[in-house]
Amino acid sequence: MSVFAENFLWGGAVAANQCEGAWNEAGKGISDSDVCTGGSHSRSKRITRTIEPDTFYPSHEAIDFYHHYKEDIALFAEMGFKVFRFSIAWTRIFPTGTEEEPNEAGLEFYDRVIEECLNHGIEPLVTISHYEMPFALTEKYNGWTSRECIGLFVKYAQTLFKRYKGKVKYWLTFNEINAGAMPMGGFLSLGILNEGTTDFTNQVDIPQLRFQGLHHQFVASALAVKAGHEIDPECQIGCMICHITTYPLTCNPDDILEAQKRNQILNQFCGDVQVRGEYPSFMSRYFKENGITVEMEPGDLEIIKEGCVDYYTFSYYMSNCATASPEQATSSGNLMGGAKNPYLESSDWGWQIDPKGLRYTLNELYGRYRIPLMVVENGLGAYDKKEEDGSIKDDYRIDYLKKHIEQMKEAVEDGVDLMGYTPWGCIDLVSASTGEMAKRYGFIYVEKYDDGTGDLSRKKKKSFDWYKKVIETNGEKLD
Ligand code: BG6
Repeated sequence: MSVFAENFLWGGAVAANQCEGAWNEAGKGISDSDVCTGGSHSRSKRITRTIEPDTFYPSHEAIDFYHHYKEDIALFAEMGFKVFRFSIAWTRIFPTGTEEEPNEAGLEFYDRVIEECLNHGIEPLVTISHYEMPFALTEKYNGWTSRECIGLFVKYAQTLFKRYKGKVKYWLTFNEINAGAMPMGGFLSLGILNEGTTDFTNQVDIPQLRFQGLHHQFVASALAVKAGHEIDPECQIGCMICHITTYPLTCNPDDILEAQKRNQILNQFCGDVQVRGEYPSFMSRYFKENGITVEMEPGDLEIIKEGCVDYYTFSYYMSNCATASPEQATSSGNLMGGAKNPYLESSDWGWQIDPKGLRYTLNELYGRYRIPLMVVENGLGAYDKKEEDGSIKDDYRIDYLKKHIEQMKEAVEDGVDLMGYTPWGCIDLVSASTGEMAKRYGFIYVEKYDDGTGDLSRKKKKSFDWYKKVIETNGEKLD
């Protein structure tokens, strides 16, 4: 007997800007990700502001899911997916964000994707905004720093809720909303492009603007939750947090307090607002000490209170350590690094691999929020090498996922209410942080390379059959 519920949602996750391509087809507008060049672990992506004629932009073709969705969803179905997490590109629906009427051709594409999922018995899990917004809103308003974005987002979300009522049950408002609490999230998550920013990893950061933008996203998310429930009382709408699990580097009380502070600001702040419907008390001191004043309109806090999410989802790739001694060696992370943990190994991109940290995190989160949880991203970004016969034996990926699933089992036995698991990049796609194709996560290999070449053909990796077995046995068979 499996410890996972019979209806446990096994599946995989992707995001529009990292897989669809077709960046200017069928009326789609330019999104923030469309002005980002490729980069690497050691070389930042550039944000070019205009499309430079001879520059390679990874999102423009990506893996061309736009034209391969049928084939890709059939492969997901073959693995036995119960759920497929994908995002809708705002710019396919409202190309500049300010149109009165949605772009019908954009909606029709997602009609087809959703229909294809349902025909295969796969539940769609839709992220309304995953690390992109119309670039026109960045230009016009400096992204979410403007309150105008609230109404524009809510109009977009309402359009989706109405169109997919009865078809899409599971929704997430903003991907990794807490990215806005970190400097790299300025452009990535809030569409803020301050004067002087050219490099993605070294943005001109104005915390005041970021936290103001985040407040606007909280209000927008809460209004979307309310609207979604009114339009379709059956639907469930969740938050999505990039969980930066942080341990104290030592038992020195200074390290303990440092870890607690990071955990509060980076993880709990946004989760508390979206689950409990209120700003947590520890933020007042943080705002005061950092000279931040979040402007709120009368009614904002009531809206936030009334728009609490139904379930909590998060991404989990690694853990980090916090220390009060700045001279400690550091480790990398997707949005934020930390101090190096001597007990853990790291991926090729320096992300520390910590399966037990997932059990710890699930327990912490369930203890805090007491609502269903879902791991909507987890996985190993790695260089995949083809064998002579062309096969890809990604045992390292199997090992990573297996160990994390084992720890999810432990967490369920600990009493955590876990709804599902959608490993990231179930098919190879463009990396969000570096723009690389070489950083692969998939069960399915895509012939696409960092110089833009590749015939886009799909090939099953060894992990494909492994994951199929995992799903078939509801997580019982992991070897
Ligand atoms: C999460 C994002 O932060 O991590 C994804 O939600 C992203 O969009 C994923 O792709 C993995 O990060 P990266 O940088 O390896 O693509």
